[in-house]
Amino acid sequence: MAKKRAEAGPVPVAPPLFQPYALRGMQLANRLVVSPMCMYSCDDGTPTDWQLVHLGSRAVGGAGLVITEATHVSAQGRITPGCAGIYHEKHLAPWKRVVDFVHAHSKARIGMQLAHAGRKASTDLPWLGGKPLSGPAAWQTIGASAIAYGQYPVPREITLAEMAQVQAAFVQGAKWAQQCGFDMIELHYAHGYLMSSFISALSNRRTDGYGGSLEARMRYPLECFAAVRQAWPDDKPISVRISATEWHSQGLSDADRVQIGQMLRDAGCDIIDCSAGGVVADQQPVYGRMFQAPFSDLIRNEAGIATMTVGNIQSADQGNTLLLSGRADLIVMARPHLADPYTMLHAAGDYGVESQYWPPQYLASKPSRRKG
Ligand SMILES: Cc1cc2nc3c(=O)[nH]c(=O)nc-3n(C[C@H](O)[C@H](O)[C@H](O)COP(=O)(O)O)c2cc1C
Repeated sequence: MAKKRAEAGPVPVAPPLFQPYALRGMQLANRLVVSPMCMYSCDDGTPTDWQLVHLGSRAVGGAGLVITEATHVSAQGRITPGCAGIYHEKHLAPWKRVVDFVHAHSKARIGMQLAHAGRKASTDLPWLGGKPLSGPAAWQTIGASAIAYGQYPVPREITLAEMAQVQAAFVQGAKWAQQCGFDMIELHYAHGYLMSSFISALSNRRTDGYGGSLEARMRYPLECFAAVRQAWPDDKPISVRISATEWHSQGLSDADRVQIGQMLRDAGCDIIDCSAGGVVADQQPVYGRMFQAPFSDLIRNEAGIATMTVGNIQSADQGNTLLLSGRADLIVMARPHLADPYTMLHAAGDYGVESQYWPPQYLASKPSRRKG
């Protein structure tokens, strides 16, 4: 199909994936987003040349927005010892180098995903097995309640004093992200990590006003959001990634998902990145093409807040279909970008979209220039 389209010549009006989009003062050249993906290649939280090349090449590859991997606001909050951080001043210069490269050599905007892994912290690198660390390498994990994730060690229930510390660390992380020049931040409230462990009743049994009803379970994530929103510039957007479902019969309902969307919208969140799962080990996901789009659709259209959809979106065609049918505002792809940083340049070639920006260094490969 793509080949036929290319032969037909440039399209008169670029399809929706290639249309610009604005969030507060952030202007995106198009609606494709590189999803946050841990690279496990940092040294005590410090990004290395790997991040520069990985994020830089995906920005050059034409996506409108690139989001960093989960970047942890404390050493204790890291998933693995190789995970990225923004908890020490030494992290700032290497992150700024990445941001400066993206701004100098592409039209992409770049967001930082701020995270705390909670009860899923202290694990080994995936290519070394990914299991919880043991012995001197391991560190104490914390969660909303002392409930383990599957076979992981039981976390310690986070105290009120520690909650204040983690909140302050998120605020500091946001201030440092601003110092590095990031265009957006995304708060990681998904996948069973610390904030997600508050939101889900399956991992939160607190009795101190931070557990119980959905309002109570959202209280701490919303308090952190409000503190970060205050510290982050008014003209820059904040996204929140949530697990819209735990894929579990006792998990969130449709009404809960909509209410979470409304609560975040009212708090000043600009867009919800609708992910799913990772909250409990005995989840029962229903996989398929674009399988998480129904959650984005529901939250976007019932809660009245912009959404990103992610999860097994395999092509620009699928992205355009999702946008045209009003199921999301932005299309997020993770694994396709690992195999092909130039996903968007290829899509622009397939569709004959001349307006897509090509770096001057690569112009000779632009399909319309290649003929002859
Ligand atoms: C290698 C890898 C690392 C990931 N790391 C993160 C992460 O740091 N933060 C996050 O929110 N999701 C993370 N994810 C999940 C992806 O962002 C995405 O939601 C998921 O892979 C589904 O999208 P896909 O089908 O396009 O791959 C990761 C996924 C992969 C494959």
